[in-house]
Amino acid sequence: ASFYVSPRQNEPPLVPYWIPFIGSAITMGIDPIKFYRDRQKEGNNLVFNAKLADASAEEAYRSLTVPVFGKGVVYDVHNSVLMEQKKFVKAGLSVENLRAYIPMIEMETKNYLSRWNKKSDVQDIHKAMAELIILTASRCLLVAQIFHDLDGGFKPINFLFDDLPLPSNRLRDKAHVKMRHFFIDIMKHRRDTGKVDSTDVMQYLATNCQYKSGRSLTDMEVAHIMIAMLMAGQHTSSTTSAWAFLYLAWNPELFDKLRQEQIEILGSLDAPLTYDSLKQLTLHNNIVRETLRLRPPILHIIRKVVRDMTIPGTTYVIPKDAYVQCIPAITARSDEFFENAEEFNPYRWKDYDLQNKEHDDDLVDYGFGALSASARSPVLPFGAGRHRCIGEPFAYVQIKTILATFVRTFNLELHNNKFPECDFTTMMVQPKHPMVKYTRVDC
Ligand code: HEM
Repeated sequence: ASFYVSPRQNEPPLVPYWIPFIGSAITMGIDPIKFYRDRQKEGNNLVFNAKLADASAEEAYRSLTVPVFGKGVVYDVHNSVLMEQKKFVKAGLSVENLRAYIPMIEMETKNYLSRWNKKSDVQDIHKAMAELIILTASRCLLVAQIFHDLDGGFKPINFLFDDLPLPSNRLRDKAHVKMRHFFIDIMKHRRDTGKVDSTDVMQYLATNCQYKSGRSLTDMEVAHIMIAMLMAGQHTSSTTSAWAFLYLAWNPELFDKLRQEQIEILGSLDAPLTYDSLKQLTLHNNIVRETLRLRPPILHIIRKVVRDMTIPGTTYVIPKDAYVQCIPAITARSDEFFENAEEFNPYRWKDYDLQNKEHDDDLVDYGFGALSASARSPVLPFGAGRHRCIGEPFAYVQIKTILATFVRTFNLELHNNKFPECDFTTMMVQPKHPMVKYTRVDC
């Protein structure tokens, strides 16, 4: 028999557990997918589409994010202000700007990979992707070391405490100030010299955006939004790319298929990558999509209940101050929705029409009801509802450009023929021991 604590009247039933206080944390920590699959009862809707007055993302994420992103943005402001800030960033990541980023990402990737100059060698693909994502995201801006220190404060423990006197938190705070000044100084320099970069999101935020109140963003807000964007994209896109390359290394026949696709669509493996040509690289796209289905980097989507909240259609009440969370990875890996759901099969998406679709929000039926940004979809790596990701188009462009550039030069195999397990103890679901062996295609 398990140790079981009766919930208060009307509270949902508790998951039975053995050890008081620690509860189910250990079972959940070892294999969260199994834990939640066994207990899946309530839809994602409860979390994604909860009323603001019931459940709050800022209450859940504030202690983790405010020391890193800074004041006046994201979870340090009222939700209505965040919604305005998200609109600004979305507009700043326009198709026109994305077009301009592709050659930059391609060049950074080529430069980075030129270090892999042996005929064949073993590399940590997750470390490589973490470096490549920050280099491509911030491109030639020299923010990598500051970013590393800032990132040190982005840990699960900071979900609970934001100002523990940890050395990593001191470095985080120093790095935050450096990074803020870095962006503010660039804006000042641009104003003083009249030099602007029209494809730059920072410039867009500084000059084109006004709140409904008529106020423009301050330099500090712009700097903090830039930091938030870099952070929001860093671990998500680097773990996604690492898993994508690990799946490829596990299915190495896909490397030839990817090169074939480039030759068919672009004419050769030397042709420059463009926004329009990337869109036609369906297999490239579906490898990213299938990776996100199986390994969505954000496993837990969390809200804090801010007033007693009745679960719709039931008499259960979730008490104020409880946390609710959803795990879209459960449905994404369920045989109920996908044949051989645990198998990596990018071809399962082949009829999924990507032409003229900027965003998954635009997509409709593909076999099990309407797919939209609503919480009904079984695959929600970018979330749903008011807090849905606005970085998806950028993430796809970035990861696909890296992928297309990479396969032009390298094949990969798994080192020791072992597909890495998931590390659930980190902020994002990372691969454990992600070692791969690369071989140059031209050797
Ligand atoms: C929100 C995933 C890349 C900026 C989210 C959420 C998810 C997510 C699941 C919803 C969180 C919640 O509801 O609590 C991802 C994945 C990415 C990615 C899987 C890459 C593969 C990016 C990038 C940016 C970005 C590159 C910035 C350019 C944001 C922002 C939000 C968000 C601003 C909104 C937060 C809110 O409204 O509370 N992302 N993201 N993300 N993401 Fe992303």
